[in-house]
Amino acid sequence: MKKIISIVLAALLCVSLFAACGDTTAPAETNKGAEPTGTEAADATETTGAAAAQFTTVEEGKLIMATNAFFPPYEYYEGEKIVGIDAEIAEAIAKKLGLELVINNMEFNSIITAVTTKAADMGLAGMTVTEDRLKEVDFSISYASGVQAIVVKEGSAITTVDDLYAEGAAYKVGVQLGTTGDIYASDDFGADRVTQYNNGNEAILALQKGDVDCVIIDNEPAKSFVAANEGLKVLDTAYAEEDYAACFAQDNDALCAAVNAAIEELITDGTIDGIIEKYIPSK
Ligand code: ARG
Repeated sequence: MKKIISIVLAALLCVSLFAACGDTTAPAETNKGAEPTGTEAADATETTGAAAAQFTTVEEGKLIMATNAFFPPYEYYEGEKIVGIDAEIAEAIAKKLGLELVINNMEFNSIITAVTTKAADMGLAGMTVTEDRLKEVDFSISYASGVQAIVVKEGSAITTVDDLYAEGAAYKVGVQLGTTGDIYASDDFGADRVTQYNNGNEAILALQKGDVDCVIIDNEPAKSFVAANEGLKVLDTAYAEEDYAACFAQDNDALCAAVNAAIEELITDGTIDGIIEKYIPSK
């Protein structure tokens, strides 16, 4: 359960059948020719099969990615620059599609709107595939898995996830607005026990100040925040398990399919594993 991210890549074919560009059969068909033999794809450094597809983007020649860059190690600021797993994967996708990557930072809660209103081509933000989001956007195949974790102050009375559900428990939960942590916690514990913050940093700050008793947030950002702040810890018990994928406007099947093809190539040739390993070393 502690091992959250990479590993699951082997299961990606199954996931692709579930969340591929609305039409669940199309992307799998498109990529039949690119069956992982392991050799050809590994040599492809520039645009490949993924680039052959016809697609349009908001600005010609550019791939505009909407994200919320307070989410290490997926996306975060290093000086002026947004870096991280998603930033590097997007860079690799853009290269395969022959596009220049532009990353736009915004509140997490604005990403889907940015995509549906064509302010951005793609949302890539450690975003979980959910049934509700699928009503508004299409998702690519999954490129990583995630876990909703619980962060508490050291010495907290909350020691496992069950404490939050206990009869009469009134613990206050901090979340990032509009995330799955927010949605699930509001469902499970009632909206009045949940406080929404614009990003993970703010939620963690509130925990330190004692405004909330715990923060529910994705496990890897949780670990980064705990490492960067004194006196906090991540509970061993997970709150929920999920899949991350890129999202697209529902009328942009062609771009979603092209990105799927690129992601499949990047999985097959080990690029995505390498990027994840760089930010989340397995040992
Ligand atoms: N996985 C969670 C979700 O989809 C949180 C993602 C937050 N991402 C971010 N870049 N702030 O709701």
